[in-house]
Amino acid sequence: MGADDFLPERRTIQSLERAARRCQGCDLHRAATQTVFGEGPADAALVLIGEVPGDQEDRQGKPFVGPAGGLVDRALLQAGLDRNAVYITNAVKHFKFIMRGARRLHQKPSSRELSACRPWLVAELDAIRPQVVVCLGATAAQSVLGGEFRLTRQLMKFHVSAWTPWTIATYHPSAILRAPDDARDKMRSELFGAFRRAAERLRQR
Ligand code: URA
Ligand code: SF4
Repeated sequence: MGADDFLPERRTIQSLERAARRCQGCDLHRAATQTVFGEGPADAALVLIGEVPGDQEDRQGKPFVGPAGGLVDRALLQAGLDRNAVYITNAVKHFKFIMRGARRLHQKPSSRELSACRPWLVAELDAIRPQVVVCLGATAAQSVLGGEFRLTRQLMKFHVSAWTPWTIATYHPSAILRAPDDARDKMRSELFGAFRRAAERLRQR
């Protein structure tokens, strides 16, 4: 179990993306439509990492194009960041869901699936070597910063990851969209703040 056997020898973003289309490193590829690999420039200074593609992402084959993507777009905009200059990916590359009637309901990936898919994320970060990484939610944060990482205790500050000392974690946009009214504004401000700190850091390089 794991993506390791599917990684190409020469690892550019382009060769990784092609190889990931055929990944069978865990069972998630069976029910999903396609691999949703990262998208964006191979030399991006900023990398955003989500958890797992959702229904829309699975259909379109691109990360963060559904409702959560709308919130990411607003977060980028208010921080003065251009989405076209950012590399956006997920900790897990295939949609995980259960059927509820005709609807496909998103499911959280297991820790086995997370570690099975991690070689793709590691290879993406190795290839890009970004200045700043923003982890959207605890799943991405744990994949990048280690399983001990606790999101709620470590908001607002940068952390040293294997790729950059400017790694920051914030709430997942989908968690914000699902949150009760009274919590939502605060969580959204935190997300927007994390993007502004990322933008500030990029301007200082
Ligand atoms: N949520 C994620 O974590 N990633 C996506 O690409 C879409 C929704
Ligand atoms: Fe491979 Fe990741 Fe898809 Fe599992 S989720 S099949 S490890 S790309």
